[in-house]
Amino acid sequence: MTDRYAVIGNPIAHSKSPQIHAAFARETGQDLTYEAILAPANGFEQAVRAFIAAGGKGMNVTVPFKLDAYRLAATRSARAEAAKAVNTLVFSARGIHGDNTDGLGLVADLGRNLGLGLAGKRILLLGAGGAARGVILPLLEQQPASLTLANRTVEKARALQLEFAPSAGACPVDACGFDELAGRQFDLAINATAASLADEAPALPQGIYAPGSLAYDMVYGKGLTPFLRAARAQGAAHLADGFGMLVEQAAESFFLWRGVRPATAPVLAGLRAG
Ligand code: ATR
Repeated sequence: MTDRYAVIGNPIAHSKSPQIHAAFARETGQDLTYEAILAPANGFEQAVRAFIAAGGKGMNVTVPFKLDAYRLAATRSARAEAAKAVNTLVFSARGIHGDNTDGLGLVADLGRNLGLGLAGKRILLLGAGGAARGVILPLLEQQPASLTLANRTVEKARALQLEFAPSAGACPVDACGFDELAGRQFDLAINATAASLADEAPALPQGIYAPGSLAYDMVYGKGLTPFLRAARAQGAAHLADGFGMLVEQAAESFFLWRGVRPATAPVLAGLRAG
């Protein structure tokens, strides 16, 4: 019987995950199906259990259910624990296992697809919600020169700073509001706020982009996001949206389920072109 996988979210109609996983399955010769499941806001667990009962082997979880998935998982990986969010569920006789491949997806996209080694870099992470939390540990593991957490609500950035301080090793981690970034420069600025979804950009001071710097938006869409448009106007040398991160996190989920690591470059190129 063909193994079944799915992405679950709300909304879900525009998810690219079915196309990405279908391409991975073709490329690796794996026999599986991958569908998109829309769950009602209060119907996440029921939808997951129904999928398991129907023979589902694993799921990707997207907005707004990553915290629900974290709570539902009977066992969790260390990176899911650090993120306090789960984007990948693995179903087996041992029960529901939760993992989080988002952070690794970001680091892989930056390194593999965009050619940006993070060691020694000054990184600015914008936002202090679930999206930001999920990538802090994988970023710190790359041994950047510094990591600055900036958020509209400063207290939330401070709370994250305190939480991750024990994992920071030699990397200084600081927290501030957007205004306090004035006079500082970064090699990489990552937008993990939800501002783009409201067609807005975080209000950042001029001059924060160092020569050669990259502005990265974890959101993707047609054309430049508001954050990337602002970054271009403020002198960021390179711009990237989160589509590469989506494909890379998918590849890591695929590996967790199938034990096979698909090549991402052809899928990324094909989907961008299409
Ligand atoms: P997610 O799981 O996507 O991170 P979240 O937990 O609701 O979602 O967090 C949203 C993040 O986007 C927060 O950091 C939020 O800032 P506040 O903590 O001050 O609310 C940030 N955000 C949302 N809209 C924003 C905007 N227009 N400008 C700047 N930051 C914004």
